[in-house]
Amino acid sequence: MGDKPSNPKGTNKTEIIMTIASKRGFFYPSAEIYGAKAGFWTYGHLGTRLKQSWESLWRNYFLGLSKSYFEIDDCNIMPKKVFEGSGHLAHFNDPLTECEKCHFRFRADQLIEDATHTNVGGVSAEDMTKILDDNKLLCPRCASKLLPVKWFNMMFEMKVGATGEDIMYLRPESAQSPYLAFKREFEALRKKIPFGLAVIGKAYRNEISPRQGFFRLREFTQAELQIFFDPDKINEAENWDFVKAYKLRLCLAKDAKEGKINEITCEEANKELKIPKLCAYNMAKVQQFYLSKMGIPEEKFRFRELDEKERAFYNKLHFDIELNMDTLGGFKEVAGVHYRTNHDLGGHQEHSKEKLEVVIGDKRFIPHVLELSFGVDRDVWALMDVFFKEETERTLFAFPAGIAPVTVAVYPLVNKDNIPEYSTEIYERLGKEFRVFFDDSASIGRRYRRQDEIGTPYGITIDYDSLNDNTVTLRDRDSMKQVRVKVDDLIQTLKKVIAGELAFEKAGTPVVAKAPEKEEKEKAYKPHLPLNKHEK
Ligand code: GAP
Repeated sequence: MGDKPSNPKGTNKTEIIMTIASKRGFFYPSAEIYGAKAGFWTYGHLGTRLKQSWESLWRNYFLGLSKSYFEIDDCNIMPKKVFEGSGHLAHFNDPLTECEKCHFRFRADQLIEDATHTNVGGVSAEDMTKILDDNKLLCPRCASKLLPVKWFNMMFEMKVGATGEDIMYLRPESAQSPYLAFKREFEALRKKIPFGLAVIGKAYRNEISPRQGFFRLREFTQAELQIFFDPDKINEAENWDFVKAYKLRLCLAKDAKEGKINEITCEEANKELKIPKLCAYNMAKVQQFYLSKMGIPEEKFRFRELDEKERAFYNKLHFDIELNMDTLGGFKEVAGVHYRTNHDLGGHQEHSKEKLEVVIGDKRFIPHVLELSFGVDRDVWALMDVFFKEETERTLFAFPAGIAPVTVAVYPLVNKDNIPEYSTEIYERLGKEFRVFFDDSASIGRRYRRQDEIGTPYGITIDYDSLNDNTVTLRDRDSMKQVRVKVDDLIQTLKKVIAGELAFEKAGTPVVAKAPEKEEKEKAYKPHLPLNKHEK
């Protein structure tokens, strides 16, 4: 891995992030030594940690919303009948057009939206063909005529078993797993409602010519929570009083063209817009997750309401969660809040002949579902976009400490005179509490830049003074300020700084930062290993 900055002049933000992502080990095209296929990506060592951080944040937050929310894990390959029951075989289609000469295939709605800047969600195949013709849209690759638009089913089909007669599908959404598991889990968990089942897992979609790099994938991860409830109680939410004055940032379907965002309290959303309390409550919780937990600036967040034509075939109410990303040229969908009615349990009951009704008191009914659905990879990309900063001397990801792939880097100033040994002891001590990285190559200035570039919020430098007085230099990524901290206080100090209980400047004795290269100047060596060996 080279140390040169990854931002050659003249490159835009997307290119810089992509270069850092592949060079430093966040993510890169899967199987790239054989020529990568669009829509498939490998998470490298940093990306895997960033993704895991986001997933833990999501899991702790959303499963913590109720004692009746649980997580399951399931197979990715499912029988054909599942998707007859869910409706995906009939309806999970994208509009496809093909070049009559080079036979390259395109998503017709994307070609139209690029050329006319109009959203054609919900428009029929015949009407899209007419729009292509009226606007004289040709093949973007060879400028030949485009064939009439037809529907293309996005599921990956596979033959399972030796006969090749058993057709199965890769699940196109993780959501189907909780519907299939509902009966068993509901019975095992003593039949209370509302009841939630979450999955963090893979989903697969045979996207037609995915173009947005890391944003539109064919294999991706979803984090979804299905909340099963009594439809007669959709206008009830247990903790309503905590959110009723909370303002949602909402772009209504009627304002979608101008992209106008209304700030409207949950109470107003319920009374004036008739958004049921259960839905508005969960929208508030989703917004709070993005703003308070992920640290997304408020102005970059909005819900966008989808109208009847645009929303997914299974939804009665559909709000996309969109984040404003420079790399994607505006607000783009990363998640959704969906009211799916009893579409799925009803469909599965009919096709499987298995009763999926519940009996609560003297009432028998098929529960309805409110779904909170998140694209994990899109949220990872959003973190990279929102927290990326370019300064004169360096680039950095200003990730919140709880999300960053590495929390603390440990730097022995020199590789001799017992400094590496002492640094290793500190590294091992910190490793029990934080995500730590040991960096002992190149000048200290370069090492700082390298960790800034991957978003490491804190660094600890061990020098000759450390051997004498058991103190180290603690450096803050964002301000580049440095303080001197006692080794024995290091863990507690870092915990307080990360939790926001202690300002960095007050974490130790201020250090006037030297020109990093000069820090390598040798000092008198006194053999002294101050850490207690028993603590290792
Ligand atoms: N279970 C509901 C569902 O799957 P969706 O709107 O189709 O709804 C939910 O997908 C989320 O999954 C999206 O908001 C997006 O973040 C993510 N997602 C969908 N398709 C994707 C793709 N091709 N690549 C990456 N993420 C995708």
